[in-house]
Amino acid sequence: MSFKIGNLEIENKIILAPMAGVSNSPFRLLTRTYGAGLVFAEMVSDKGLLYNNEKTIKLLYMTDAEKPMAQQIFGSDLKTMVEAALYIDQHSNCDIIDINMGCPVPKVAIKAQAGASLMKNPDLIYDIVKEIVKRVKKPVTVKIRSGWDHQSINAVEVAKKIEAAGASAITVHARTRSQGYSGFADLEVIKAVKENVSIPVIGNGDIVDGPSAKRMLDYTKCDAVMIGRAALGNPWIFREIDAYLKDGTILERPSLHEIKDMMVAHLESLIDLKGEHTAILEMRSHGPWYLKGIEHASNLRKQLSQTRTKDEFITHLDAFFNKK
Ligand SMILES: Cc1cc2nc3c(=O)[nH]c(=O)nc-3n(C[C@H](O)[C@H](O)[C@H](O)COP(=O)(O)O)c2cc1C
Repeated sequence: MSFKIGNLEIENKIILAPMAGVSNSPFRLLTRTYGAGLVFAEMVSDKGLLYNNEKTIKLLYMTDAEKPMAQQIFGSDLKTMVEAALYIDQHSNCDIIDINMGCPVPKVAIKAQAGASLMKNPDLIYDIVKEIVKRVKKPVTVKIRSGWDHQSINAVEVAKKIEAAGASAITVHARTRSQGYSGFADLEVIKAVKENVSIPVIGNGDIVDGPSAKRMLDYTKCDAVMIGRAALGNPWIFREIDAYLKDGTILERPSLHEIKDMMVAHLESLIDLKGEHTAILEMRSHGPWYLKGIEHASNLRKQLSQTRTKDEFITHLDAFFNKK
């Protein structure tokens, strides 16, 4: 069930996606504990690193317990991308440097000409990857989309350039930039990339459980799968997919008690890292994700979205879950 990126052995084929505002150290640790074989940290800006932007530097925080971990960078300029990669190589204890070539948000893909915008320029992709690989010691991976839009699906061409430039693996989120998160991930694109390169290919898009993970692995023959949105409020998904891939076991969903305990543990680890104020603001997003599918939780969702302290948060959880 394991696979390798460069010389790094990954214990299974199930990976946490980089998600801005979500895939920080506490969340990565939760997902590693619950079965992710490798975790990706959210993207950081190349220029933010080089200008020593305090917020950007804070995003690099990690602990050894999360390893193996990939730190993602984004940018569009060869020189600053290389400098940012060198910074990560020297100052971060992460195992992999990942380059974002898939982000669709206008601030990144249009204003900064970074993220998915790079898909329009395969030669620049080649130059950036080649120069970074040459200069850093850690393995370099790249995360791409299918292409910029429906008329320009070029993941195979780009993947070949990335391999030729010396990258150690490629993640394919099989949607175009213009699709954003709508429609479906196209397994044909992942399959075609896998058939055309010999470095590991990580498939990404729309995996929600064991069967959808297995379908992607079986159909595309990709080496591993990456999970994003389905992990929100659901760190258990990794051990569930792991069990299903091993022998078809469908694990029971976490009990209400486990969900509550996880919400408290998540809050507490965020407080340790960021202080109570910021942690509570983040848990205002995570709260409804954890409560997805739980009946009669709409009032609790509303209460959590207005809490200001840890005590208030826990009082609301107690009042709801102790009645169950
Ligand atoms: C809230 C959020 C933040 C994201 N941030 C990043 C990011 O920083 N870097 C990146 O490469 N992709 C980012 N993505 C895209 C995911 O990594 C993933 O490719 C996408 O969600 C598709 O996978 P899924 O269907 O499993 O969610 C983000 C997605 C979401 C929902």
